[in-house]
Amino acid sequence: MPNHLIVNEKINSFKKKIIVSGDKSISIRWVLFSSLANGVSKAKNLLISEDVLAAIETVKRLGIKVILNKKECKIYGKGINGFKYKKNLKIDAQNSGTLGRLILGLLVNSPYPITLVGDKSLSKRDFTRVSKPLSEFGAKFKLRNNYSLPLKIYGSSKLKPIEYLEKRGSAQCKSSIIFAAMRTDGTTKIKAKKSRNHTELLCKHLKLPIKINKKKNFDEIEIKKIKKINTLNYDIPSDISSSAFFIVLTALSKNSELIIKNVNINPSRIGIITILRKMGVKIIFKNKKNYKGEKKADLKIVSAKNIKSINCPTKLNSGAIDEFLVIFLVAAKAKGISYFKNLSELNQKESPRLKWAEKILTNLGIKTIATNDSIKIYGNPNLNLNLNKKIVIKNYLKDHRVFMTSMVAALSFGGKWIIHDKDSIKTSFPNFLKIVEELK
Ligand code: S3P
Repeated sequence: MPNHLIVNEKINSFKKKIIVSGDKSISIRWVLFSSLANGVSKAKNLLISEDVLAAIETVKRLGIKVILNKKECKIYGKGINGFKYKKNLKIDAQNSGTLGRLILGLLVNSPYPITLVGDKSLSKRDFTRVSKPLSEFGAKFKLRNNYSLPLKIYGSSKLKPIEYLEKRGSAQCKSSIIFAAMRTDGTTKIKAKKSRNHTELLCKHLKLPIKINKKKNFDEIEIKKIKKINTLNYDIPSDISSSAFFIVLTALSKNSELIIKNVNINPSRIGIITILRKMGVKIIFKNKKNYKGEKKADLKIVSAKNIKSINCPTKLNSGAIDEFLVIFLVAAKAKGISYFKNLSELNQKESPRLKWAEKILTNLGIKTIATNDSIKIYGNPNLNLNLNKKIVIKNYLKDHRVFMTSMVAALSFGGKWIIHDKDSIKTSFPNFLKIVEELK
């Protein structure tokens, strides 16, 4: 089977209801919290993707039993100190920055050194952003080139609480420190730039000793050592980041309408909705519900007739951090020049995404001016490629979001696309192409 896809037809109008897979951030956190609980936790609609399977494999390596079938996943937690640390343990976070960074927080007390490895993409990413603060607790690290994976963590039995300033708006860094704090006597204090808050919401739902003081741009978090975690049964809502591709596909397609059922609409994740609404896209929340501290709703999206450009407020960046590639496609079809700034974090993802945005938009014939942390996009409301325009997307470190964004561009704007590495979707959204077929 070739691992590339040829797309040479725009999608026709559609009016459909779809269900996208479970939220990746919540799925990975559910696996980690459940592995520390006292007893059996069950999840429904857990995302079955390579990143989450890597999290399951990780807790199994730490001696935790997991039973996974199509209907549910069961994790047999052995308590906060239930991990079995073996000599020469190696953990493979594969493509997952979230798993790689969060698990380190839980390994700070390992009596033996543990090696953490990842795939080619993860091995290019910065792990000092967690190794530095985790060293302050008392753990020690050896990183490749003092920067990245493979790394070795040397845990400590004499952890001390820290005061930590998280300035990037990284939920992975914040969560890693929360996990280490759960293992440390005393009170750890975190001042964190706003970012997704699933870890904090789970701590609250589980009644763990966490205090959160919300300020305008930062959250102040205090967390104490944890003695016990109750089991956590969870029905995982659908992922807004996976939904994003279909939100944009609908906005860019003529006379189309889409309902996406049961999507997590945590306020720290819906930057894409705020941004697209400002650009003139109609998105409605229906059947809003609260669920274990999270919020969910059905989303209704309608094709956009006149797309407006945006000077995107930077306070929306962290709530849309995984969606910018696909948001840029909307800017490509807007009337006027859109401007997105303070986005250096985009080049720290599975691939340097700001660079990839520039390449994809240039291929579309859209003028851009990009720097290391910003992009100006000169929109063209009549954007429509003819079939002679051949676009090849390859060598992008198998970044799932580059693949799916390219697919949305091909289906929305036409041209002849050859998009390599279709297996990349297995990390976050294995059903993606099946849902595209449902809309055809
Ligand atoms: C995630 C946090 C974000 C995001 C990633 C998932 C998480 O990364 O890009 O896809 O689940 O905590 P950063 O913390 O590096 O911003």
